[in-house]
Amino acid sequence: MKRELVKTADGSLTLYVPELDEHYHSIHGALQEAQHVFIQHGLEPFKNHTSLRVLEMGLGTGLNAYLSYQWAAKNNITIWYSGVEAYPVEGALIATCLKGIGVNQAEDLRFFSEIVYGKTQQIDRFTLEPIHALWSDIDFMDAYDVIFYDAFGPRAQEEMWTMGNFEIAYKALKKGGLMTTYCAKGQVKRDLKAVGFEVATHPGPPGKREMTVAWKW
Ligand SMILES: C[S@@+](CC[C@H](N)C(=O)[O-])C[C@H]1O[C@@H](n2cnc3c(N)ncnc32)[C@H](O)[C@@H]1O
Repeated sequence: MKRELVKTADGSLTLYVPELDEHYHSIHGALQEAQHVFIQHGLEPFKNHTSLRVLEMGLGTGLNAYLSYQWAAKNNITIWYSGVEAYPVEGALIATCLKGIGVNQAEDLRFFSEIVYGKTQQIDRFTLEPIHALWSDIDFMDAYDVIFYDAFGPRAQEEMWTMGNFEIAYKALKKGGLMTTYCAKGQVKRDLKAVGFEVATHPGPPGKREMTVAWKW
């Protein structure tokens, strides 16, 4: 898959995929979107926990993983982070994106850009389990507190926004867990409800009116 580096509105970098005419993050601000959708609405509700298990659909450039690592350090929370990715991004591109948000510590850059799929790696309180697989092939049960559902949008990759994929997410979550996504499409929310989630709509990040958080009770 061909990828091009693009600067977004908040100065952070993302990747553009010409084949899909789709970006890895919002062009209105990659960093702001990730902070808002995944950290604020994904991790913050679990601030009183001592440890968390996070599953990401689409590890990509590792931006959400890096921000989770920072959040874990700031809040003294231990995180086990499983990142599912079907088409891994080259380390050099990941490093460029991270430097774009001011990451300059050699250890951090190395940790997040030299990802070996299939091998678990640990830095401080943060353990990364990179999983090279299609989302449709994963099979976890009652295993995660939080899911970051960060697939390409329904316009570019409609097949990622199906009830079958949401069932995989629902099964993977523990009771009381949540799945957060930037997508607020009506059909997606109806399908999440049909799978069993309690669906909440929140104001979106810059450039997006709304986003979705789906709870498993
Ligand atoms: C919107 S990007 C994710 C951005 C990523 N979270 C980041 O911070 O860079 C979507 C990601 O999903 C991956 N992907 C696409 N289809 C997939 C599938 N069926 N299973 C797993 N990953 C997939 C893409 O390769 C891409 O990395």
